[in-house]
Amino acid sequence: MQAIHSLTASSVIKLDTKSPAAQAVGPLQTKAQGALVSPVDIDVQGLGKHFGGTPIFSDVSFRLARGEAVALVGANGTGKSTLLRSLMGLIPVTQGHVRLLGHDMQAGNAAALRAVRARIGLVSQKHNLVPRLSVLSNVVQGLLGQHPGPRHWCHSLAPETSRRAAMAALEQVGLADFALRRADRLSGGQSQRVAIARAIVGQPQILFADEPCASLDPAAGEDVMALFFDLVRQQGVTVVFTSHNIAHALDYGDRVLGLAGGGLKLDATAASLSADDLRGLYD
Ligand SMILES: Nc1ncnc2c1ncn2[C@@H]1O[C@H](COP(=O)(O)OP(=O)(O)OP(=O)(O)O)[C@@H](O)[C@H]1O
Ligand SMILES: [Mg+2]
Repeated sequence: MQAIHSLTASSVIKLDTKSPAAQAVGPLQTKAQGALVSPVDIDVQGLGKHFGGTPIFSDVSFRLARGEAVALVGANGTGKSTLLRSLMGLIPVTQGHVRLLGHDMQAGNAAALRAVRARIGLVSQKHNLVPRLSVLSNVVQGLLGQHPGPRHWCHSLAPETSRRAAMAALEQVGLADFALRRADRLSGGQSQRVAIARAIVGQPQILFADEPCASLDPAAGEDVMALFFDLVRQQGVTVVFTSHNIAHALDYGDRVLGLAGGGLKLDATAASLSADDLRGLYD
């Protein structure tokens, strides 16, 4: 596949037509030879977002099959976080459509939106833990989407099943021994691992991660990425993560989407790209 070394606002979008998501035209499509293609978990068509009169991006379209991990890259201010928030339905979009897990996120049905959000996890750059609460309470709060209400505000009120699920998630990130420690007594790397535990405790089908290790030193950042991807790969979760770390985008993404000049300027398999290709997005 042709390499992109210099991407400008008008350059070509590389679309890997061999990707299952690019081939599928709906959930559970059948290939010509009869094998099942994974369901499309994320289907974005013609998405555009303005803040007031300022356009951030327009005409963004892509599909992600179940279990795909996609790195979303681009220079500061190109709209990566805005795109993630638009996908999750946290902010209204200006144009276009988003379907997550088969649900139309713009349909306006609040109960259905809550149900689909309960199947989605988020890890953000600032881990957003509640500082005065225990690590375990913070992870229990990851179940609030499925169990809204005060019983999931803090571990001492939570039902036994939820506490067990939270302990299991803490074991997965190697922090079971820290369950009763206050969240503000953790290192940055430990906090980010707790944030991962909180995101996975409800066994989400889709995980969004916005620069999940940007505030960590290189070694801790590497650990967090490796752990995060071990967990999501084991569970077949569909992942969209943003990163300014080109090596992470290429190592952990199956595909790379690049935002530049107000639109999606790159959509290619990570295997077909080099670090120089991605650097072109930042010119
Ligand atoms: N709530 C808002 N109101 C107005 N403008 C906003 C709002 N949120 C973001 N923006 C603007 O939208 C643009 C894209 O911001 P966004 O945070 O999505 O970029 P980004 O690609 O995530 O950048 P970074 O790499 O620095 O995280 C920026 O110009 C930002 O100032
Ligand atoms: Mg951002």
